[in-house]
Amino acid sequence: MPGSLSLSIFHLGLFISRVLCGGATQAVWKALNSTVGGRLHIGVPFSQSCFTRTPSNAEHPSQCREVQALYEDQLFRSSRFGGYQVTQWETCQTTGDGCLLDWTNTSNPAAFTAPRQCMQGSVPDYYIDVRGPEDIQAAYRFSKKTKVPLVIKNSGHDYIGRSAGPGTLALWTHNLNTINLTTTFVPDRCADESRTAVTFGAGVQFRAVYDFARANNVTILAGADPAVGATGGWSMGAGHGVLSPAMGLGVDRVLQYKIVTPDGKFRTVNKCQNPDLFFALRGGGGGTFGVVLEGTFVASPAVIMQVVLGTYENTPENTISLVRALGKNATQMASDGWGGYIAPPASGGVWANPLLDAESARKSAAGVASAFESVGGGVSFSTMPTHTDFFDTFIAPNTNPVGRPQVRSSRLIPDYLVANDDVLSALSTAMVSSDFSQILAVTPYVFEDVDKKGTSINPAWRTAVWHVLSMNAWNFNSTRSERENAYERLKTFWTPVRDLTPDSGAYLNEADTYEPDYKTSFWGPHHAKLLAIKNKYDPHHLLDCWRCVGWNGPSDPRYKCHLPAP
Ligand SMILES: Cc1cc2nc3c(=O)[nH]c(=O)nc-3n(C[C@H](O)[C@H](O)[C@H](O)COP(=O)(O)OP(=O)(O)OC[C@H]3O[C@@H](n4cnc5c(N)ncnc54)[C@H](O)[C@@H]3O)c2cc1C
Ligand SMILES: *[C@@H]1O[C@H](CO)[C@@H](O)[C@H](O)[C@H]1NC(C)=O
Ligand SMILES: *[C@@H]1O[C@H](CO)[C@@H](O)[C@H](O)[C@H]1NC(C)=O
Ligand SMILES: *[C@@H]1O[C@H](CO)[C@@H](O)[C@H](O)[C@H]1NC(C)=O
Ligand SMILES: *[C@@H]1O[C@H](CO)[C@@H](O)[C@H](O)[C@H]1NC(C)=O
Ligand SMILES: *[C@@H]1O[C@H](CO)[C@@H](O)[C@H](O)[C@H]1NC(C)=O
Ligand SMILES: *[C@@H]1O[C@H](CO)[C@@H](O)[C@H](O)[C@H]1NC(C)=O
Repeated sequence: MPGSLSLSIFHLGLFISRVLCGGATQAVWKALNSTVGGRLHIGVPFSQSCFTRTPSNAEHPSQCREVQALYEDQLFRSSRFGGYQVTQWETCQTTGDGCLLDWTNTSNPAAFTAPRQCMQGSVPDYYIDVRGPEDIQAAYRFSKKTKVPLVIKNSGHDYIGRSAGPGTLALWTHNLNTINLTTTFVPDRCADESRTAVTFGAGVQFRAVYDFARANNVTILAGADPAVGATGGWSMGAGHGVLSPAMGLGVDRVLQYKIVTPDGKFRTVNKCQNPDLFFALRGGGGGTFGVVLEGTFVASPAVIMQVVLGTYENTPENTISLVRALGKNATQMASDGWGGYIAPPASGGVWANPLLDAESARKSAAGVASAFESVGGGVSFSTMPTHTDFFDTFIAPNTNPVGRPQVRSSRLIPDYLVANDDVLSALSTAMVSSDFSQILAVTPYVFEDVDKKGTSINPAWRTAVWHVLSMNAWNFNSTRSERENAYERLKTFWTPVRDLTPDSGAYLNEADTYEPDYKTSFWGPHHAKLLAIKNKYDPHHLLDCWRCVGWNGPSDPRYKCHLPAP
């Protein structure tokens, strides 16, 4: 049968690549597997079931049909270990090897029939389906002994490849999915008054958070996507959502983490225990200081949200004028507690506010209304009974595109520059010169309960009013020069924005893969302190990721699929 022949050729290929890359023999892998209770698995590329050496039928037709139908479904993609949301991280960008479908038409057989083959790309060779601290301790011992590099993968949303890597062993936290709400939470060994808080296993994703919050009549800050993890990279890198201007970032709301640090210790981290780690985990980034098993966050009373939705015809001229007009009112909107998203590809923008009543919302958003009217568009106002209803009505039907290779650049824009014409011109030019762009008004601008010295995000976050980004995409059959060009175009259009905002920075979770001077851009004055904490807990660099604190540079083989900087 040709099908089984190709299966065995395919597996032989994987087997050879694994033996060559890992410093571990099959017997050593087998021993690891029994240590972790049989929860060591082979990392299979997301679309492998579609690939075959015969042109007419896929290897596993029903699995392939599911992959084709749900190729851009964020929750489905994240439910498979081999699925990454921005799919260049399933591939090797330097060689072009990968296992992708045509995202413009997932039935297009040109993507998955001969001569194309399913290649491992940057999908980790093996992963452990993590269920407790012992799994992580076993992985640290294994990596120390064999030198097989580790990565931590949760939902696979990372934009700069920190949850993937060729030749690696991954720790997959997806199945840590408990949620526990209590009205009497006190951080362990603290003498605080108790408060309402929610504890998430590291795998819990925003869809579950939104549903849980509505069912329990509380508000839990979460972002604009159903599938990002609430406790992984999002919460450790800053963590923004539409409520952030009024209610803070993820790092402002976390009360406690449980983590296994690379020295093998299972630790509780809060303001009373391991406070240096508490600082580092609130902004230092995921994948760096240990593997987090759970996080506890403030749960606030339910809120009603006022909403303004703007629509216009998306032409480059209109977008440039609209961005210019909206910039004039951006600081006032943030001061009034609005969070929002302006998305030219969706021909609109939406803002939400938990602080104002309906009448004051109309007054406050008058400038936004006239901005849309000035380009022939308009706005409508509404009231949403919960944060979750806002998400379901305005965000979920229109989430960011995934399931395609796309690279991005971004910048935090401070209040004192957001109305500046040169800045607005550079920003809108970058936006209309890319395949996809967005302005996110999600900075913690009026949130007051800030532990300023306690978080390690770049302080530029707190005086910024916009986080602006753009992205360029390619497809399964891209050439290396197309890929390089996508990065180069970002450099061309974002260098002027950086030059005009020299004191600001970028959000490390949504940054350029080649962000210049990334230490300052991501952490401002906090980098030196973060590095000392990294060296204290991970002196042997068991954890190392692209432009993370303590990064060893691009020469390590696990980065061989990253292109050289443009
Ligand atoms: C479509 C899309 C929408 C997004 N929307 C938002 C948004 O609304 N707001 C926002 O702030 N950001 C948003 N992001 C960015 C998001 O915050 C980052 O991609 C973030 O890194 C995702 O974290 P993750 O754990 O879910 O993903 P992963 O890619 O699995 O992990 C990201 C990083 O965190 C590390 N990590 C993950 N889990 C753990 C753990 N348990 N312990 C230690 N390290 C861990 C990984 O090693 C990696 O370095 C979005 C991204 C995408 C692709
Ligand atoms: C690990 O062991 C389990 C249970 O015996 C088995 O199903 C699985 O295939 C093994 N993993 C690998 C990578 O061999
Ligand atoms: C997608 O590709 C299939 C197979 O080539 C083709 O039959 C179908 O018409 C295409 N669909 C679209 C929307 O182009
Ligand atoms: C939930 O939290 C409460 C209070 O902290 C604790 O007593 C209980 O054991 C927790 N339950 C689970 C399942 O973690
Ligand atoms: C939900 O919480 C709000 C705010 O605390 C409260 O006013 C309201 O009565 C609660 N609703 C229900 C059904 O418990
Ligand atoms: C919006 O900005 C314009 C131009 O600076 C200004 O005239 C107007 O008062 C602002 N709107 C509000 C509601 O503040
Ligand atoms: C990639 O494939 C698409 C669809 O099959 C085709 O239109 C395009 O020309 C191809 N691009 C390259 C660079 O081969």
